[in-house]
Amino acid sequence: MKIQGTWYRSLRETETGAIAIIDQRWLPHELRWVELSTAAQCAQAIQAMWTRGAPLLAAVGAYGLGFALQEDPSVAALAAAYDTLLATRPTAVNLRWALDQVYQGVKELPARERAAAARAIARAICDEEVETNQAIGRYGLGLIKKIAATKPGQPVNLLTHCNAGWLATVDWGTALAPIYMAHDAGIPVHVYVDETRPRNQGASLTAWELANHGVPFTLVVDNAGGHLMQHGLVDLCIVGTDRVTARGDVCNKIGTYLKALAAQDNGVPFYVALPYTTIDWAMQDGLAEIPIERRSDDEVTHIWGKAATGAVIPVQITVDGATTGNYGFDVTPARLVTGLITERGIVPATEAGLRSLYQASVLPQLRT
Ligand code: MRU
Repeated sequence: MKIQGTWYRSLRETETGAIAIIDQRWLPHELRWVELSTAAQCAQAIQAMWTRGAPLLAAVGAYGLGFALQEDPSVAALAAAYDTLLATRPTAVNLRWALDQVYQGVKELPARERAAAARAIARAICDEEVETNQAIGRYGLGLIKKIAATKPGQPVNLLTHCNAGWLATVDWGTALAPIYMAHDAGIPVHVYVDETRPRNQGASLTAWELANHGVPFTLVVDNAGGHLMQHGLVDLCIVGTDRVTARGDVCNKIGTYLKALAAQDNGVPFYVALPYTTIDWAMQDGLAEIPIERRSDDEVTHIWGKAATGAVIPVQITVDGATTGNYGFDVTPARLVTGLITERGIVPATEAGLRSLYQASVLPQLRT
């Protein structure tokens, strides 16, 4: 990820054994790195969304288990930290996947070896994730190239929802990786960025990322996507996801479903980018089975922003005591998804499509 020309990862180990992450609550106004060195801090950072995005949650969760084992290497402590971290955010399955990797990887080891082993697994998860996202980027780049070939000299117009860029991952992002690669390859691209209420990950994070990488974009309000597609202004939608079922139903930030409906109605291809860690092989029917996170009222009743004084503050936008419904995610049925862009290739959003890429070796090992 490039911030003002310098390449970073959004999670790094520090010399003191902590991890440093960006406290994303302050973006785009301030770039604040914070250090986490206990499982409780990791759980707080995830729950309060200092850190976010399905793959990055996984990485922070894995380190969190390592920190818990430094304090107490018993299996009981490991299990307690697993439960605490898992409860922080229920929708993104990557978090559970990573906790399972660490739990299974260390529980049979002698107690004195567990913390170091957990850290090694967390580190491997991060390194693998960067490679995975690059592979997703290369496959998605192929799609963008094909569209670019049909409109020489004109930009390929993409639409994305929420933030599935490098801030949501250790590096590169999922939905944004193909866009960065296209831009870097000299293909003209332009991105419509949905603001993504209630927390405005599009306005605050995706726009900031794209600006830092020099990718042209237009920020639009959440309800604009249908209008843009009706007027032929979008060539391709690419979004990320927090959980994909075995049959290809896609759960992503609230509002994604409406974009997929508009895309279908207007013949705009709608692709979802994901690493294998986002597939929940135990689920089929996303609508019935995926737990949808409900978050606090204040995310709906207030908006955070920079005041004229320069202070970053919340502003109330509705009547005192308004009743809210804060659903974090929605499910886009597989029939509305043109294809899934994975690190192993692009496939239809079907069980056969996913199974054509993945064998039993990547099926999740559930905690026992
Ligand atoms: O609530 P968030 O900000 O963690 O939600 C993030 C998203 O919905 C992303 O689009 C999704 O995690 C994919 S990230 C590669």
